Amino acid sequence: MDWGLQNRLSRILKPDDDRTVMLAADHGYFLGPTNRLEDPRSTLEPLLRYADAIMVTRGVLRNCVAATTDVPVVLRVSGGTSVVGSDLAHETITTSIDDAVRLNASAVALSVFVGSKYEHETLANLGMLVDQGVAAGMPVLAVTAVGKELEKRDARYLALCCRIVAELGAHVAKTYFCEEFEQVVAGCPIPVVIAGGLKLETELDVLQLAYRAVQAGAAGVDMGRNIWQSDDPVPMIRAVRAVVHENATAEDAHELFLELKQGGHPQLA
Ligand code: 5RP
Repeated sequence: MDWGLQNRLSRILKPDDDRTVMLAADHGYFLGPTNRLEDPRSTLEPLLRYADAIMVTRGVLRNCVAATTDVPVVLRVSGGTSVVGSDLAHETITTSIDDAVRLNASAVALSVFVGSKYEHETLANLGMLVDQGVAAGMPVLAVTAVGKELEKRDARYLALCCRIVAELGAHVAKTYFCEEFEQVVAGCPIPVVIAGGLKLETELDVLQLAYRAVQAGAAGVDMGRNIWQSDDPVPMIRAVRAVVHENATAEDAHELFLELKQGGHPQLA
């Protein structure tokens, strides 16, 4: 791995533990003004200092994030579809590597849709992006997306997806947590991070998800809705950090969440 690419990657996956708490806020690229992300600037601003990286589009970055920030950026560069269109899987590359470099991105991210009608196109997008990324020293994060077909998310399918993106040269795979997640990690020679998915019922549920993923070998999270749709997003991201970086149990992290929510300043995280 070339120095520049390695250096960028180490800004996202923290060298002390090779883990990350990435804050995903790219949802608008196909969902529009998602609940509690209507004004990305005000949603993101209090969370930035607790995020190891943020995942956003260039539009949100340029318009809603101060250029003085030092949070590493994972730039969403695929899109071209919407939730009201005919097929979410029909993505293309919407942002050039030149613009990613101009924006000082630490990585670029795209979605692939394995098993969909657009499997070939989205995997070809990945191959092309890796070629361009490696030439520019820019890591590529591949999201193993399922569009509206949430039931697809089992270990056999996700292991297949993660292995394919690694084989095509991605540097990080982002996928969903599932039962037998160890199998997904075992078959994938690059770091795997998990999305949070739809908002879960309780904060403890989210922390258990993160805990189980990390214990099964995930390199952390790239989580959005379960952080910024929480009524207490700052305590939430700090509790997730405790699980990812401090090896806190879900229960201990939940205690931390409750204390932070009440205005306490405990030791952990
Ligand atoms: C969409 C994405 C989102 O960033 C991803 O789903 C993470 O956000 P959440 O934790 O809300 O699921 O990659 O394809």
